[in-house]
Amino acid sequence: MSSSPSRTKGRRLVLLGARTGGAMAPRAPGSVWLVGAGPGDPDLLTVRALNVIHRADVVVHDGLVPDAIIDLAPANAQRICVAKRKSLHTYPQAEINRMLVAFALEGLTVVRLKGGDPFIFGRGGEELEACRAAGVECHVVPGVTAALAASASAGAPLTHRDAAQAVTFVTGHAKAGEAPNLDWPALARANQTVVIYMGLSTAGMIAQCLMRAGRAASTPTVIVENASLETERRVVTTLAGLADAAAGLSGTALLMVGEAMATAMPTVSPQGVVSLPPLGEVPAAPGMGAPAWRDLRGVAPSTASRSDRSHATSTPKRGGEIRSALRGVVR
Ligand SMILES: C[S@@+](CC[C@H](N)C(=O)[O-])C[C@H]1O[C@@H](n2cnc3c(N)ncnc32)[C@H](O)[C@@H]1O
Repeated sequence: MSSSPSRTKGRRLVLLGARTGGAMAPRAPGSVWLVGAGPGDPDLLTVRALNVIHRADVVVHDGLVPDAIIDLAPANAQRICVAKRKSLHTYPQAEINRMLVAFALEGLTVVRLKGGDPFIFGRGGEELEACRAAGVECHVVPGVTAALAASASAGAPLTHRDAAQAVTFVTGHAKAGEAPNLDWPALARANQTVVIYMGLSTAGMIAQCLMRAGRAASTPTVIVENASLETERRVVTTLAGLADAAAGLSGTALLMVGEAMATAMPTVSPQGVVSLPPLGEVPAAPGMGAPAWRDLRGVAPSTASRSDRSHATSTPKRGGEIRSALRGVVR
């Protein structure tokens, strides 16, 4: 090992030498682990993810994975950030694939750490295929996807016996200025929850497409920003109010649309300010009762009049009101 010219490549090969007992020993094949890091809060990491991260030689991570999770890797593990930013891809996907394969072929344990779950809008499938094509062992460790964390903290179930018999995860990503290419008539059917990832910047168009396809303007809608993190913010609105609500947010967020969102709780800031949509403008859909948030008065953080609502201070009440909150929005 000491006279090998490849030693200049650094720590990776030193580790390999230590593992195989010298430069002449055959290299044991390494492996790639596609690990879901969950929505951000390290508490939401799975035990398996933690065990795998502890064994990493190299961690290749996304921008959504917080330092608190990356730091769980051994101190001498190499850390590589391959964060993708809108239209600014630091590493093209093909290069990430090659990197994972190359490290594994050097005999390393490669942890590909991704926000949420690797197979939900995470390109995990492409990385798995690249490993298989190269004959590299690849394992997948599921993670808590953002929708699960968002619905849990909002207190609004993605499915509900009365209000949501289906849940669909879609991407709101689209070419600049265009609406996402989705099956709007299918998504507009009542009594299902539609969760839109990467949809903050296209929220207005998404709302228009859903309403044009027949989804009621009064359908309860929630935006959850930075789900599970200390900076989490939830805005409870309706489909008609979605564009305005989204305009005030800029972080990592997802949108959840559906009757079951009627029980969602908005954020209460330390100052006691709740994020609520403007009341009154949203027409009730034909055959429906008042808009969902009217029925939520009993469970909303404030029973203040409309003019006070943006500065409401009372503590949220939860409990048996959930069913009554759903009444009036379930068709
Ligand atoms: C490329 S997708 C990755 C999704 C990830 N694989 C998952 O399973 O959650 C990124 C999008 O996921 C959503 N997202 C991820 N983490 C989030 C969080 N903590 N809070 C809200 N939305 C989040 C946002 O819509 C963001 O634009």
